[in-house]
Amino acid sequence: MQLNEKELASLVDAALAARLRAYAPYSNFLVGAAILTDDGQIIKGCNVENASYGLAICAERSAVSTAIVKGQRTWRAIAVASCGAVTPCGACRQVLYEFGEKIEVILVDAESGEIRARWTTQSLLPGAFSL
Ligand code: THU
Repeated sequence: MQLNEKELASLVDAALAARLRAYAPYSNFLVGAAILTDDGQIIKGCNVENASYGLAICAERSAVSTAIVKGQRTWRAIAVASCGAVTPCGACRQVLYEFGEKIEVILVDAESGEIRARWTTQSLLPGAFSL
């Protein structure tokens, strides 16, 4: 079911707030994510970098891990906030797809706070691998 205006606004705000917690001293590229669960909870994540650059965790996968440890496995949407409203990397697309092909992925520009694109996990990763 489509998100209503209030749900959308809360999710966007949560992604923008999560972005401000990002630990990104190497790229200085802050990313925040917020998952809306089927039962209406909002779960945040942010990117976490490391001096060993390849160990960086994206905001999307950080939010996914937090949702899972909270026992939340069914989601309606995820909002991702960054400057320029970047699209999730390939690894994150596959990880998001794991939890459903109809999850909405909402991309938010952090400077304006505006939604720049709306995808689904399936439209972001056609032909996704699944078992
Ligand atoms: N990053 C994310 O957190 N999510 C994305 O969708 C794209 C990239 C992070 C990883 C790294 O910390 C920084 O952005 C620059 O690549």
